[in-house]
Amino acid sequence: MATDPNKFQAIISHCKEYGFIFPSSEIYDGLQAVYDYGQWGSELKKNIKDYWWKNMVQLHENIVGIDAAIFMHPTIWKASGHVDNFNDPMIDNKDSKKRYRVDHLIEAKAEEMRNEGREDEANGLLDELDKLIAKDDFDGLKQLIINQGIKCPVSKTSNWTDIRQFNLMFSTQVGSVSDEASEIYLRPETAQGIFVNFLNVQKTGRLKIPFGIAQIGKAFRNEIVARQFIFRMREFEQMEMQYFIRPGSQKEWYEFWKEERMKWHISLGIPKEKYRFHDHVKLAHYADAACDIEYKFPIGFKEVEGIHSRTDFDLKNHQEYSKKKMQYFDSEINQNYIPYVIETSIGLDRTILMVLSEAYIEEDLSTAEKQDSRVLLRFPAKIAPMKLAVLPLVKKDGLPEIARKIMDDCKSHFRCFYEEKDTIGKRYRRMDAIGTPFCVTVDQQTKQDNTVTIRYRDSMEQERIPADKVTEIVLKEINT
Ligand code: GAP
Repeated sequence: MATDPNKFQAIISHCKEYGFIFPSSEIYDGLQAVYDYGQWGSELKKNIKDYWWKNMVQLHENIVGIDAAIFMHPTIWKASGHVDNFNDPMIDNKDSKKRYRVDHLIEAKAEEMRNEGREDEANGLLDELDKLIAKDDFDGLKQLIINQGIKCPVSKTSNWTDIRQFNLMFSTQVGSVSDEASEIYLRPETAQGIFVNFLNVQKTGRLKIPFGIAQIGKAFRNEIVARQFIFRMREFEQMEMQYFIRPGSQKEWYEFWKEERMKWHISLGIPKEKYRFHDHVKLAHYADAACDIEYKFPIGFKEVEGIHSRTDFDLKNHQEYSKKKMQYFDSEINQNYIPYVIETSIGLDRTILMVLSEAYIEEDLSTAEKQDSRVLLRFPAKIAPMKLAVLPLVKKDGLPEIARKIMDDCKSHFRCFYEEKDTIGKRYRRMDAIGTPFCVTVDQQTKQDNTVTIRYRDSMEQERIPADKVTEIVLKEINT
């Protein structure tokens, strides 16, 4: 049975072996911190996107979605503060020439203390880190690294440079002439596509405050320390929603969205105890309050989603830089104002890693007679990549034809899989490994009474049901 740190490695290997996630450009030895989703990973990703969209857009009558371009006018990133403020304090080790994010080095030390049972010391260290980060006290941070005897994981020395700030945005050139004017950025967050379209959407949708604009899309950050699989990537996807509100009501809406988002997380079938809120001590350049929803990954509690009270920072700055009015007329109070914004921002890839971490189970099925085990992904049926496998017991006697007919009835309703190769036991195990909640087996009895065996992934229990009830049973489960 994999222990927690090993479990993380086991999940990475499982994802590759079973077609969920591959290292990008693998035949060229890969590209650090970039990953490709395979046949089951992309289905899982799509299902999670749809589930978020349904909850945020379909079920909230005052939230609409957009799909803005990745390339945007470069002044946007000046106005948003990303050109000047989107930096991480970094430190280099002079011997290994490796560069590290300062907070990550110190957090790793705190984790080490925790693993040694030095919980109070670990908390003290993290408090100290928060205080120094909040003051941008780089000398103090370097001293903390030295005092704690933190060594470079590669060279094992403490030969550190001073701490410097590095901007995380990727830039590229548009057109054929490369000069400063043609430099544009790959967006580091999807939020700005929403802010710059705020008035377009509000006016054309005749939306009244409070209302939200949601978006799912790619974001890019030149993360220096990009390890931990799909937790921290250079190209990733975000699912963001900006909720436009009356100035002064931000506290109330901030609490509302914290609660609302936590409900969504729990609706993924993950127990409450696996989540916690973490309030930000050092606020991002745009926020007056912010917290993270953290999930207990096999590598510890880590951020999955941020809830930010962004004030009128973004709209006000876009008004100033673009010289276009970003005001809203509130007919209820007869006033013009720049709305305040509450943002919910969740990483799609981190959500996938969270769902995989929760679903991955190694089960010991040994009996006195024989050793046995299985690996299964216990996804909730609504997000499982494959909902149903249709399996003829043997490849003859007309069973494949009956199974094909069931397959044809089901495949327009949900994703299903047909397979006739190998023993039924092996086929069940393959379906467990990709998280398929139901398998139906067609056997000789089916020819007599038109019933099939349905096998449930989690309990491995089997029961006989009428073949024409399969669609209904599966649909009921995936819609709960
Ligand atoms: N618009 C606000 C914003 O971008 P953020 O806290 O920087 O806020 C939001 O990012 C979410 O995006 C994070 O909670 C995380 O899930 C995800 N995210 C951020 N950087 C990431 C990275 N390098 N790789 C994967 N996901 C990332």
